[in-house]
Amino acid sequence: MCGIVGAVSTRNIVPVLIEGLRRLEYRGYDSCGVAVVRDDAVERARTVSRVADLEAQTQASGLSGFTGVAHTRWATHGKPDTVNAHPHLSGETIALVHNGIIENYEPLREELRAVGYGFESQTDTEVVAHLIHQAYTYPSSATRGDLFASVRAVTKRLHGAYAIAVFAKDQPGRVVGARAGSPLVVALGENEAFLASDALAVAGTANRIIYLEEGDVVELTLDGVTIHDVDDHPVEREARVVEAHAASVELGPYRHFMQKEIFEQPRALGDTLEGIESISPELFGSGAAEVFAGIDSVLILACGTSYYSGCTAKYWLESIARIPTQVEVASEYRYRETVPNPRALVVVISQSGETADTMAALRHARALGHVHTLAVCNVATSAMVRETELRFLTRAGTEIGVASTKAFTTQLAALYMLTLALAKVRGLLTEDAEAKALTNLRHLPAALHGVLALEPQIIAWSEDFARRENALFLGRGLHYPIALEGALKLKEISYIHAEAYPAGELKHGPLALVTEAMPVVTVAPNDALLEKLKSNIQEVRARGGRLYVFADSDTQIQSSDGIQVIRLPEHYGDLSPILHVVPLQLLAYHTACARGTDVDKPRNLAKSVTVE
Ligand code: F6R
Repeated sequence: MCGIVGAVSTRNIVPVLIEGLRRLEYRGYDSCGVAVVRDDAVERARTVSRVADLEAQTQASGLSGFTGVAHTRWATHGKPDTVNAHPHLSGETIALVHNGIIENYEPLREELRAVGYGFESQTDTEVVAHLIHQAYTYPSSATRGDLFASVRAVTKRLHGAYAIAVFAKDQPGRVVGARAGSPLVVALGENEAFLASDALAVAGTANRIIYLEEGDVVELTLDGVTIHDVDDHPVEREARVVEAHAASVELGPYRHFMQKEIFEQPRALGDTLEGIESISPELFGSGAAEVFAGIDSVLILACGTSYYSGCTAKYWLESIARIPTQVEVASEYRYRETVPNPRALVVVISQSGETADTMAALRHARALGHVHTLAVCNVATSAMVRETELRFLTRAGTEIGVASTKAFTTQLAALYMLTLALAKVRGLLTEDAEAKALTNLRHLPAALHGVLALEPQIIAWSEDFARRENALFLGRGLHYPIALEGALKLKEISYIHAEAYPAGELKHGPLALVTEAMPVVTVAPNDALLEKLKSNIQEVRARGGRLYVFADSDTQIQSSDGIQVIRLPEHYGDLSPILHVVPLQLLAYHTACARGTDVDKPRNLAKSVTVE
């Protein structure tokens, strides 16, 4: 969602701010802007177009300055419009960018109107700019002339989740930031300092990173960084050297980040599994053995693609570790009356570790009395990792494409290991079974290479798919969530309406949709349900439906009239979902390319959903 970059420097900072926005584009946005201090005045450029357009505008107008803030906006309050784009100004003195939602903005706006403030935009953000202006400039204000103190005072009045970055035109060389519920980091370079939603924004420019805590307010100047915590006490926060991962924003030989990330999966799986010699609860943190021994069930909370990895894990957890497992969409769970069970292990799954619904569901579960929590997450420094008792970090690397791919397959590997660890603690994993599972896990990267080699065949199918407006996806058992994930991938990037069903449900409704115009993608591994699935395939064929089957090499399903088959190199037992999802990712990707959509930044979607 929205991306923030702010900077104080001794050089013209506009190109760095623009590059920062370019690197935050992956979060999803519909407008962007930048403001700097020049000659004691605020200068600003904004656009509802792309960051490239903003860059062209700044070059044409010669915008430059040593202190500035910049922003990519994903609209929540007020439509995507230049007037709603950030930075927002107050009194031509304060410039502010904001990520998140100010829940009490309406009463605050009325209060500000009553003392004479006017509003240009429909955003909640403008309220914050005016409040800071009031605190900073009003003669009666206790914080007059002190931007840091003004921001600290104002944040006490804000409800909701937010990160902000702000400067005042009469104090060049000073930027103040605050975070509560939305990500914000400080990055330190040579004679310059930055605020950013994500260290990636300034990777290669500043590699000493301070991860702000909830409620922190920070002041950046050329002399250093001052931080006050949620209780307004000065605090020191450790600066960590983070390896520059600017390379992850380079496309290399690929057309899109999504394609790059699909092809990175063998490496991502290899990194995630690296160094794992045996299955043990300690893979999930110290104290996990005791926790795992005491639990009687698992409750998984997640959203979107991460939710589907949880749905897949339910099959593993119940069949291998024999532990009752419930999987809930986080945004539903947080508002549903549930029966808490303190002996359940609550597992949150999230690529970003910042998804607002999943965070809220985790906190809700804890408030209900759930004590044991575990995060499966791709971002080590995220709020979710910090707030859980146990954790497993996937090492997929930065995922830029909005449609999640390598995060999903690494989550599956992590959840499979969780299953094995629970099975072991429960006395259900023999030494032989453990050794075999580890061999299969280690062989996964090589097996994935074999699946990726199917790309040319999938491109041929995608040309046909690109002409369709609807598609059905079928799977059974462990591969039903994979069909769901395949349908989600297709709809979010190609805008083709796609639905997934467990194949046995066909005749209970969706078969009515099957005609010659309906492509039916079928996930057909050589497992115990294959014969049942073959009957479902015939049900579709008998109604004229066109089948696109991803089968394992040893299944007897043949291409014939109305049935096309692509064969995966080998059947992979329990880990088969990790292989079978890859051709579905490629099908969605190439179909979207054939339709000419913005693959990495599909309309209306954001990468990291930090608002409810
Ligand atoms: C779909 C996709 C989303 C995310 C969802 C949760 O391709 O990426 O459905 O999976 O927004 O995000 P995380 O995993 O960051 O919590």
